[in-house]
Amino acid sequence: MTKISTQKLTTDFEREVRQGLTDFPKHLSSKYFYDAVGDKLFQDIMAMPEYYLTDAEFAILEQRKTDITELFSRGSETFNLIELGAGDGKKTKILLKELSDQNIDFTYLPIDISQNALNQLTETIENELPTVKTKALQGTYFETLSTFNELNYAKKVILFLGSNIGNLLHEQAINFLRSVREIMLKDDLLFLGVDQKKHPKKILDAYNDATGITAAFNKNILFRINKELGGDFNPNQFLHWEVYDPETGTAKSYLVSKEAQEVSIKKLDLTVSFKSWETIHTEISQKYDDEIMQWLAQESGLTIETEFSDAQNQFKNYVLKKN
Ligand code: AVI
Repeated sequence: MTKISTQKLTTDFEREVRQGLTDFPKHLSSKYFYDAVGDKLFQDIMAMPEYYLTDAEFAILEQRKTDITELFSRGSETFNLIELGAGDGKKTKILLKELSDQNIDFTYLPIDISQNALNQLTETIENELPTVKTKALQGTYFETLSTFNELNYAKKVILFLGSNIGNLLHEQAINFLRSVREIMLKDDLLFLGVDQKKHPKKILDAYNDATGITAAFNKNILFRINKELGGDFNPNQFLHWEVYDPETGTAKSYLVSKEAQEVSIKKLDLTVSFKSWETIHTEISQKYDDEIMQWLAQESGLTIETEFSDAQNQFKNYVLKKN
């Protein structure tokens, strides 16, 4: 006789929210910023004048597209261009267009946790660059990376743009780079977009814009808990707070409770108490320099082959190979 389990299955989101809000100090993961609302807010962030990262990387790709695509296609008749965390693909389209203008044979494989972002991306590529072969994959980086073992027959170029690596602690970044390395063969490349240390005020402004878009992005995690887990957070009772430590290069985002309050989350059967000015740590956005990058590469079994940077060295795209 089949026994039907009555045990409730919990999602990662439920588990991590429970863990994060019952730990001290409290924390929630920035990977949960991204639903349809969060995706749109992030697109608005990328269009803000304060968020220099996007423009700087855009400039690198635009100015160096010939050298970059030459590097990608060198030594192979065809290759797979895999993009981890593709988002809206605005910057990648510079490279896709250049490759297709040069009649270089390749397949574009964008990966994103958000199906919504992938649908929009594939639709715009079909319209704007109809000759580009695209196969979209929904999932986390770690889940989908293993899929690429099957692609071993062709050269792989793995894109990880936008300083997405900066949302990982160094230890997590090393684990991530090691698992990327595992699916790489001798000639495969990792093209990594990395925000650089710079004037601390410029970094703070990028994560603390005057219009409050970043604050809304940070608070979106509370809206998601309300919507998906039956929470009763009042996001107005929390303050978006950003700090940047120029010594470590770490920018940190917090939500700070403006007063003592209790929040209940029905689906978790949980009541969370906040003292006034108690924090929830939500995101890190790590900034790097060449020494930190060398160290990360070395720890992960990778070698930096070359790098591209913008005129003011605000941002760099490193090209890494397996050593
Ligand atoms: C996606 N990631 C690289 C962005 C960053 O810069 O850390 C997310 C972001 N958070 C606030 N503004 C942008």
